[in-house]
Amino acid sequence: MLLVHGASGNVGRAAVEIGKRLGAAVIATGGSPESLRVAAERGADHVLDYAWEDVRDRVLEITTDRGADVVFDPVGGDAFDASLRCVVWEGMVFVVGFASRWVPEAPAWCVLLKNCAVAGVDWGGYLRREPEKVRASIAEAYWYGEGALRPEPSRAFPLERAAEALARGAGRAREISGKTVLVTNQDSPAGS
Ligand SMILES: NC(=O)c1ccc[n+]([C@@H]2O[C@H](COP(=O)([O-])OP(=O)(O)OC[C@H]3O[C@@H](n4cnc5c(N)ncnc54)[C@H](OP(=O)(O)O)[C@@H]3O)[C@@H](O)[C@H]2O)c1
Repeated sequence: MLLVHGASGNVGRAAVEIGKRLGAAVIATGGSPESLRVAAERGADHVLDYAWEDVRDRVLEITTDRGADVVFDPVGGDAFDASLRCVVWEGMVFVVGFASRWVPEAPAWCVLLKNCAVAGVDWGGYLRREPEKVRASIAEAYWYGEGALRPEPSRAFPLERAAEALARGAGRAREISGKTVLVTNQDSPAGS
């Protein structure tokens, strides 16, 4: 069982899609009905709303007390804490990012008693240190994901509307899905 946090976000969606492609059953978390709709539409088998459901309890309920084998966590904060409490014995928690803006700390006793692993996955670090691994993993991801990966189209804003773009992406309603691109006059052949 794969548990994906932030499953409506850019990396979360891809994790749901690749997880399904690899044959995993996927539990996706989100903080609104719209987030859960997006995750289900990407293939998640189970969705849970962390705004009102207890993540650990729901994961244990879904997995009949077994827990999640692998956790993909681009959110951090409470999502990370819940992950350590519902990952299986000898499971794996991947730390991908901190969309919640809260960098959690892993309690070593929990890692020990669960015999689980907490591993960081930083694409930027690989790009700097081992770019050939990035090329190989992208090729592998496209191979696995062929026909299954559906990146959102980018949303473009003129540079002078950068503040609005940030506010709409980061606000509570999080109106913008997918990547946002800021366009300068030089980006446009017409200069507009
Ligand atoms: N390690 C790497 O190589 C790598 C690569 C790319 C990105 N990242 C990191 O991964 C994280 C997610 O990136 P992304 O591009 O997927 O972001 P994104 O599209 O904005 O998605 C983030 C998701 O996190 C959830 N979330 C939960 N609490 C949140 C909060 N307090 N504020 C905002 N979102 C919250 C949101 O879903 P709900 O609204 O449903 O909660 C949202 O869908 C970022 O920290 C980014 O820096 C890491």
